[in-house]
Amino acid sequence: MAKDPSPPHSPPFQNLNLDAFNIHLKRAKSLLPWILLVSFISLLVLIYSPNPRRFWLASSDVKSGENVCNLFDGRWVRDYGRNAYGRKNCRTIPESKDCARYGKDQGFVHWRWKPRRCDLPRFDAKKFLRIVRGKRMAFVGDSVSRNQMESLLCLLTQVETPIDIQEKDSEDRFRTWYFRSYDFILMTLWTKFLIAGTERTVNGTGTGAFNLHLDKLDTSWTQKLPWINYVVISAGHWYFRKNYLYENNKLIGCIYCSEDKLKDFEPTYAIRKACETTLQYIYNCKNCDGLVTVLRTFSPAHFENGNWNGGGYCNRTKPSKESDVSFHGTEWKLRNAQVEEVKMVSKGKRRKGKGFRVLDVTKAMMMRPDAHPDIHWNNQWMKGYSDCVHWCMPGPIDTWNELMLQVLKEEALLV
Ligand SMILES: *[C@@H]1O[C@H](CO)[C@@H](O)[C@H](O)[C@H]1NC(C)=O
Ligand SMILES: *[C@@H]1O[C@H](CO)[C@@H](O)[C@H](O)[C@H]1NC(C)=O
Repeated sequence: MAKDPSPPHSPPFQNLNLDAFNIHLKRAKSLLPWILLVSFISLLVLIYSPNPRRFWLASSDVKSGENVCNLFDGRWVRDYGRNAYGRKNCRTIPESKDCARYGKDQGFVHWRWKPRRCDLPRFDAKKFLRIVRGKRMAFVGDSVSRNQMESLLCLLTQVETPIDIQEKDSEDRFRTWYFRSYDFILMTLWTKFLIAGTERTVNGTGTGAFNLHLDKLDTSWTQKLPWINYVVISAGHWYFRKNYLYENNKLIGCIYCSEDKLKDFEPTYAIRKACETTLQYIYNCKNCDGLVTVLRTFSPAHFENGNWNGGGYCNRTKPSKESDVSFHGTEWKLRNAQVEEVKMVSKGKRRKGKGFRVLDVTKAMMMRPDAHPDIHWNNQWMKGYSDCVHWCMPGPIDTWNELMLQVLKEEALLV
């Protein structure tokens, strides 16, 4: 059979309607000035925008902005890589969080947080220290706040061993560390509530219930603010008990106290107010120019079959799937309230270089019932109770600091 001599495309080409082609060409020509104009305007926007570096950032780096990659939304994936640190190269791991030591199944360390649209870089201690060089950072909050500081301390110790520059108080509540070659100070400032709270006593004995002033802050930490460059605030677990709420020095109700014939509030109400009071105070603080505030959202506990002193435990050995955690409960409501309060204060113009950021760990940690110390057999901590509030080290609490590094990196580019 003879080959068809005509090349496959020749027939349509021969029949090409030249008029139609010319019309298309004319249209394209008439669009050209518009294309040039739009390009020119885009260029102007890029050059004269208040922060041209952000455009560069968006293309060259992970960004926690919603459009590019939300670092706080993702899942846990298997990762058998090396631990960031261990007891041998971090002497400051508190015994109560040293889970490898007490025979907890170590499967929980082999997971990595994977944001939906990007990868979260591993913690880079040098990069972190370069950002905070010459600065002071304070973790303000309860023992979960201190837990994050302890994780950061271990992560940074891999580059430089800090000097302990504060006398130890009996309960380890105020600590200060100095990284000499970066002139960086890291500290914890203890506060149960962020706001002012005093324990109710009856006949000289503490009742375990507190009087909370929703519109007054705990001055033990606020008085140090003018001296600080980065403050990581959080609030949470101390609100989940019987507490009396005051506004304007007037008793307005309480949490968990239906028997007292007072208005019953949920912890979320009080925590939202505490965040609002805190953020407003920092926003208006005259001696806090350039202060960067990071609000770490609620860290969930994972007691099963009971609570802290009711025989509850947390012995799961795998992370939960997203479909297994509830986004209708108190924890998520609380997180939403915190995120909203930060949005409110950061909505307006930046004031005196102050930045307000969210470190939104709630979702990631809701999926980690496997990473609490639980029961430490034979140790002094908790004496037979399960700890399902704090987090093992190393473990997913190190992810908080990986996330924080990204947040600080973005913030550093804005200043
Ligand atoms: C406090 O002490 C007084 C006097 O000793 C006593 O009458 C009262 O019952 C005590 N209250 C409580 C709640 O223990
Ligand atoms: C967790 O502890 C409970 C109660 O002791 C036990 O019934 C259950 O089998 C344990 N689960 C795992 C995974 O070890």
